[in-house]
Amino acid sequence: MPRKIAAGNWKMNGTAADLDQIKALASAHPSPSVEILICPPATLVAHMADAAGPIKVGGQDCHAEPSGAHTGDIAAPMLAAAGATAVIVGHSERRTDHAETDAIVQAKARAAHAAGLTAVICIGETLQEREAGTTLSVIDTQLSGSVPEGASDSNTVIAYEPLWAIGTGKVPTLDQIAEVHAHIRAKHTDLAILYGGSVKGSNATEIFGVPHVNGALVGGASLKANDFSPIVTALE
Ligand code: G3P
Repeated sequence: MPRKIAAGNWKMNGTAADLDQIKALASAHPSPSVEILICPPATLVAHMADAAGPIKVGGQDCHAEPSGAHTGDIAAPMLAAAGATAVIVGHSERRTDHAETDAIVQAKARAAHAAGLTAVICIGETLQEREAGTTLSVIDTQLSGSVPEGASDSNTVIAYEPLWAIGTGKVPTLDQIAEVHAHIRAKHTDLAILYGGSVKGSNATEIFGVPHVNGALVGGASLKANDFSPIVTALE
């Protein structure tokens, strides 16, 4: 069985004052039966790792190279040295804002593996692609282009995040989630597959009941312990 993960992506939110949220989350789940992973902005990774107790900490992006002349970028070994155990790669906001291609995402996932980090590889279709009936072929292209050789449950997680569900409050039907997760499972039998896009405490239980959903990658509802804790509990 793939591992179960309740993951939070703080995106470009949070300062040291928000570390109280991680402390509250850690005290609400002192010995979690599922993996809890929070990915704060890079400025908070080391501080959060110190305060997180049983909660794992991840980055939101890494460069494909381990060091060098890349102003403003962060290398996977730097995240690992700061206490991260994972890094998100290929989030749709990176793919859109920074023109990241599948090849770039795959190179970043390789860099994560080389640094001993779990790569949380994000994929998902746009609304136009869904309406055009091309969702599964988009997923196939992203999977084959982004997931590197050597991916296993110990170093790779897939996050299915339909772009039209991110931060919109719109959630696919359970059948739509089931179809895509089953499609991914057929290709990657051993990897954890997370669903992402407007997950909240109120819909987490039904989403986690969908076959081949091994957890969630949560944006807005991961910022406050009170919002995220019920999602963790729903997965446990
Ligand atoms: O990576 C998580 C994400 O994109 C989903 O965001 O705010 O819809 O939960 P949100």
